[in-house]
Amino acid sequence: MMVHLTIDGQPVEVEEGTTILQAAKKACIHIPTLCYHEDLSIKAVCRICVVEVEGQRLLPTACSTPVSEGMVVQTASPKVLKARRNILELIFARHPQECLVCPKDGKCDLQKVAQDVGMHLDIRYDKQLRHQKEDWSSPAIMRNPQKCILCGRCMEVCNEIQGINVLSKENRGFHTLIAPAYGEKLADTNCINCGQCVQVCPTGALTVHYHT
Ligand code: FES
Repeated sequence: MMVHLTIDGQPVEVEEGTTILQAAKKACIHIPTLCYHEDLSIKAVCRICVVEVEGQRLLPTACSTPVSEGMVVQTASPKVLKARRNILELIFARHPQECLVCPKDGKCDLQKVAQDVGMHLDIRYDKQLRHQKEDWSSPAIMRNPQKCILCGRCMEVCNEIQGINVLSKENRGFHTLIAPAYGEKLADTNCINCGQCVQVCPTGALTVHYHT
């Protein structure tokens, strides 16, 4: 069955069960995403894709919310942009701002989203980095937990798709970390250096081990 909705004033017709994000894509309307990856399951943890739906007080996430008949969606209303900026500020409060020397510079999803949203360096929250060391033990992959935004893409690709089960969520709340269990170094795990985690990581948390 087809569903009819309006996104940013543009009428869109999509199959029932389509998400707002997919419907917006069909209408060539860009909604920024971080944790979403088209080949992986929807986790909706980063909330950067929030949109405004007429009649709803809370802002739903476009990547996980299915469309419904007559829905009126705003992807860039002042309320949405304010929420997105706030989410980004919270992410950046825990993210080292060293893009110029980061191996992901220019290929980083977080950097791109910050540019899309028009993010400046005036972050209202205190910087609270994870004081975790980089892991250079693997011959192929470098892990920098300070740059992890906990999107879970690496965990899913390693565990569900590759079936290697190297990465898992450790600790809780502020101390949450995606890492090999028991604080092991990557070189001491079953990691086969396939690099799939690097491919899906949206930031510089997992990069190719460089030798320069
Ligand atoms: S991209 Fe939708 S919640 Fe992360």
